[in-house]
Amino acid sequence: MSAAWTARVLTLFPEMFPGPLGASLAGKALENGVWALETVDIREFARDKHRSVDDTPFGGGPGMVMRPDVLDAALEASAGAPGTPGRGRVLYLTPRGRLLDQALVRELAAGSGVTLLCGRYEGVDERLIAAHALEEVSLGDFVLSGGEPAALVLLDACVRLLPGVMGNAGTAGEESFEGGLLEYPHYTRPALWTDGQRVERAVPEVLLSGHHEKVAAWRLAEAEAITRARRPDLWAPYAEAHRAEWDALEAKKRRRQRKNRTADGKSASTGEGQVS
Ligand SMILES: C[S@@+](CC[C@H](N)C(=O)[O-])C[C@H]1O[C@@H](n2cnc3c(N)ncnc32)[C@H](O)[C@@H]1O
Repeated sequence: MSAAWTARVLTLFPEMFPGPLGASLAGKALENGVWALETVDIREFARDKHRSVDDTPFGGGPGMVMRPDVLDAALEASAGAPGTPGRGRVLYLTPRGRLLDQALVRELAAGSGVTLLCGRYEGVDERLIAAHALEEVSLGDFVLSGGEPAALVLLDACVRLLPGVMGNAGTAGEESFEGGLLEYPHYTRPALWTDGQRVERAVPEVLLSGHHEKVAAWRLAEAEAITRARRPDLWAPYAEAHRAEWDALEAKKRRRQRKNRTADGKSASTGEGQVS
């Protein structure tokens, strides 16, 4: 059996893990050895009698900064020194990083695992980031009090993509961001539902038709409309990638219309096809 996908988390709060990842699909997969979790308590690498992991910022200013020597020792003891074979990807979770997206999640899930450094206070000493060539990754344009919630989110997104974790393997390929679109809307029973304001809400007819091609076409059209309206940043590259295909379809439609008009004209002049 191949080694489990391994998440290594460096944190001042190891008790936060696995947290929510111990439940549901991720929890079952952890129990079954599909993935493994190692927490590294950064404080264990502190050298002084107070076990301090942070200090005041040079140049003044508010808050504290995590010390490079302590973090370096924690990283070397767990992931290994930079350049160590098999070290894998080492990420520092920070609002300054590149935004986490499904493409990065897919990349990480396809590897052997990931090492995550969770910051606290004002963050980590810049020299540590350079010395360990850390990949800086952000969860979004907001500030959390620590990297741990970000690590939990990133791991949740990765673990659900590991082989055997999701019951229905087909669902991953249809979700938001796969294929560059947000997902189409979902409906379930009852087919006709009356809401709290006594408004009757029916499921779109096409979904009850049993016609798979029409359902697929409707879903694609909905996904495109939602993406276009809500996420111009996703829509632009999607439209660009499909431009040639759409232009070809449009040209084909125009040719067919022209052909029909010519055929109509001919049959009108000859009386052909006319019903008396
Ligand atoms: C209070 S924050 C520090 C924020 C930092 N002073 C700044 O302004 O960018 C403490 C830690 O939380 C984590 N964190 C905060 N917001 C985050 C985000 N949007 N994405 C990923 N990690 C975040 C980072 O590990 C960070 O070092």
